[in-house]
Amino acid sequence: MTNSNTNTTNKKQMLIGLAMFGAAGLNFKSWLDPKVNLKEYPDISIDIRAAQLAEKGKFQFMFFGDFPAIKGNDNSDMQTMGLDPLLIATILGHNTSRIGMGITRAISWSNPYELARQFKTLDSLTKGRVAWNAVTGANGTSAQAYGVNLSPSFDRYAKANEFTEAVQELWASWSEDALKLNHATREFADYSKVKSVDIKGDYIETSGTLPIPPSKQGQPVIFHSGGSENSIAYAGKYADVFVGEVWTIEQGKVMRNALRQAAIDNGRNPDDIKFIAGLIPLLGDSKKAALDRHASFMDSKTLFQRIAHISYVLGVQFTPADIDKPISSEILDSVKVNLYSDPRLENVIKVAREGWTLREIVHHSVIDYHPTAVGTAQDIAEYMISWVEGGGADGFWVMPDVYDVDLPRFVDEVVPILQERGVFHKDYEGTTLRENLGIAYQYGVDNRIKK
Ligand SMILES: Cc1cc2nc3c(=O)[nH]c(=O)nc-3n(C[C@H](O)[C@H](O)[C@H](O)COP(=O)(O)O)c2cc1C
Repeated sequence: MTNSNTNTTNKKQMLIGLAMFGAAGLNFKSWLDPKVNLKEYPDISIDIRAAQLAEKGKFQFMFFGDFPAIKGNDNSDMQTMGLDPLLIATILGHNTSRIGMGITRAISWSNPYELARQFKTLDSLTKGRVAWNAVTGANGTSAQAYGVNLSPSFDRYAKANEFTEAVQELWASWSEDALKLNHATREFADYSKVKSVDIKGDYIETSGTLPIPPSKQGQPVIFHSGGSENSIAYAGKYADVFVGEVWTIEQGKVMRNALRQAAIDNGRNPDDIKFIAGLIPLLGDSKKAALDRHASFMDSKTLFQRIAHISYVLGVQFTPADIDKPISSEILDSVKVNLYSDPRLENVIKVAREGWTLREIVHHSVIDYHPTAVGTAQDIAEYMISWVEGGGADGFWVMPDVYDVDLPRFVDEVVPILQERGVFHKDYEGTTLRENLGIAYQYGVDNRIKK
């Protein structure tokens, strides 16, 4: 579906999502930013402002992680991803009208009927704007809190397959023409077209009917995040979107190609699966200004922990005297990158070769969960374009340090450049998440992958 505002160039279009943490931003110290001025916790007005800004920037989706456990080992750390994301998304869905929401729920500690019901409810009420980020969940603390034992990877994914199909069958309990809403005939629904789902698998048992007709996009989209070969095989069957963790274009390319191949192996079209890389944009009037801002959130404990890690990955023992010096080219030339290296090592070397000091290298967040793009809006736009053009990603989930400060800049400065360059849409293509992601309508389990 297209409209008059849709981009008409032949350039590959990127997808953009906003990471939602149920906090003041990605940074654990985000609440300390003077512009945040947090007076209560939690404060949903921050999430609402962020969601509306992302919608103003035409982001296709928000992405909610879920780590139901206490976090932070420093008294100045804010809690992140601790609030229930489905409940936050319910509020945000009501305060937005076009942007989609990919919400994580871990299979290891969920019940398929409850999950199917919750996601279908929200998908219906938001008129087709919801995705379930189906992760197996490998977090021991969360598992313990739910009183479950984590199985080895193979079993987790065997259960995930059964669980996902059960959820999708429940989502399709109603024939697409079962809902009538016919005042003249007084017929609300034709219940002969509503079926019961009866599953007795190795891991899942459910026998019931979901009392919810098809949503505007049929049923929620499936996102998936993981790291193993089992995860890629799972995504090849079920995922429309894979939310990943890679640090270089080359790594992204390998992951994206593996996912595309996994889709082909399951009788799907490789374009049916979108690979989304993480991105921490450090945006400033100059590279140095962007780094200084990010550095202002980094305490000395983090600085020294990260120096210790850089020291470990480079195989070099640094002393306090080295902190404000660049790393010598002899050291950098001697480092060997191989299959077993920390995947962030290449970025450590790349930034070090630009001549930054050890302290500044840390300020680039080269040792972080996701890669950073550092500099002006133009630099960040170029970074994003190079990934998509280089085949490293179909889009990004963007993690601003502080929503109230860094997100407005991203929306007002980076997005227009991407639009101008013809690589990001100027308006939503449709009203559902599927339409805006360019994913086909689906109802029930995808027939192509049925064994
Ligand atoms: C980008 C990304 C985001 C993730 N988000 C979550 C999350 O929000 N909650 C969760 O329990 N697990 C999350 N996971 C972890 C997965 O559940 C998965 O178990 C873990 O990556 C181990 O990979 P594997 O299951 O393929 O071995 C995430 C993983 C990745 C790569």
